[in-house]
Amino acid sequence: MTGRIIGTGSFLAKTRVTNDDLSKIMDTSDEWIYSRTGIKERPIAKEETTTYLATMAAKAALADAKVTPEELDLIIVATVTNDFVTPACACAVQAELGAMQAQAFDINAACAGFMYSLHTVYAYMQAGLAKRALIIGAETLSRIMDWTDRSTCVLFGDGAGAVVVEASETGILACDQGADGVRGKNLTCMNRTNNNPLVQTDTRLQYVKMDGQAVFKFAVSEVPGSIKKILEETNTKPEDVKYYLLHQANLRILQIVAKHLGISMDRFPTTMDHTGNISAASIPILLDEVCKKGMLNRGDKIVLSGFGGGFTWGSCLMEW
Ligand code: ACO
Repeated sequence: MTGRIIGTGSFLAKTRVTNDDLSKIMDTSDEWIYSRTGIKERPIAKEETTTYLATMAAKAALADAKVTPEELDLIIVATVTNDFVTPACACAVQAELGAMQAQAFDINAACAGFMYSLHTVYAYMQAGLAKRALIIGAETLSRIMDWTDRSTCVLFGDGAGAVVVEASETGILACDQGADGVRGKNLTCMNRTNNNPLVQTDTRLQYVKMDGQAVFKFAVSEVPGSIKKILEETNTKPEDVKYYLLHQANLRILQIVAKHLGISMDRFPTTMDHTGNISAASIPILLDEVCKKGMLNRGDKIVLSGFGGGFTWGSCLMEW
């Protein structure tokens, strides 16, 4: 037994902020941002919370899958920007949906969070522990950016993507995931104020801090190997895969991965021009856009792959 995606949905924060908008509030330009990243604009949340974005994406995925909330037995939200320390975002979404038969928990694996969640659902379904699961990637990253650090804050956006996975004979064929906590120190967010009156808290540590070049090197060194591993395991040639749906961090990273695999960029659809990097939400948002454009047919093989803070990474080969 494995799991098959039977519905997708997404929901972006309403306010769109272009590179030109950013250049009015910081020393940057459309030329600098677009040429280095492929990003033109990003959705930024004002009133919207992570729970709200997650719930809206979940409702769209459930409608697409024709599954009712009561039929779900598992909800996982991948996020690093839950509205609360506790309860988990998955529990808040469960309450909003009225999915009271579902177990619910969050996974924090940053930009690889959706892949870690998919792998977890795969394992639950292989073990016969879940029949219908909802996976949501949801982020309001604008809340944890250092808006005085132009090299980081221009990269990210806010939104959510969701999929419904059903236990099935076909679907997910192979998964790979990994972590490297040593190199992970290059991308951090120490976003937890210490409330202990005996301890002085350094508030400068509360926002995202990133060594961009270290992240870049990590991504281009780990992602091709992770994808090749699942292709070799399943005797699949890179050209047998219709689309490679990768985390939308940076166009140049995707170009290097495509080169390593010997595959043309036509097979790497993107959303980053209008979404920026929405961490755990980027892959399900991309998948939803690809589905809504009618680009996938039953039986197509696709690879999903995510990488990010931790450092963490994960890849999955599936038959649509
Ligand atoms: N606008 C204008 N100039 C800028 C900006 C900006 N927004 N940001 C930095 N600069 C300047 C720097 O100050 C520096 O100026 P200097 O040479 O006078 O000192 C110059 O541009 C070059 O800065 P670098 O940091 O060396 O720029 P680089 O070419 O490495 O590009 C970038 C930075 C785009 C972040 C790149 O390192 C990258 O793509 N890294 C991947 C990281 C990533 O995608 N992270 C996403 C989050 S993690 C994840 O999702 C996996």
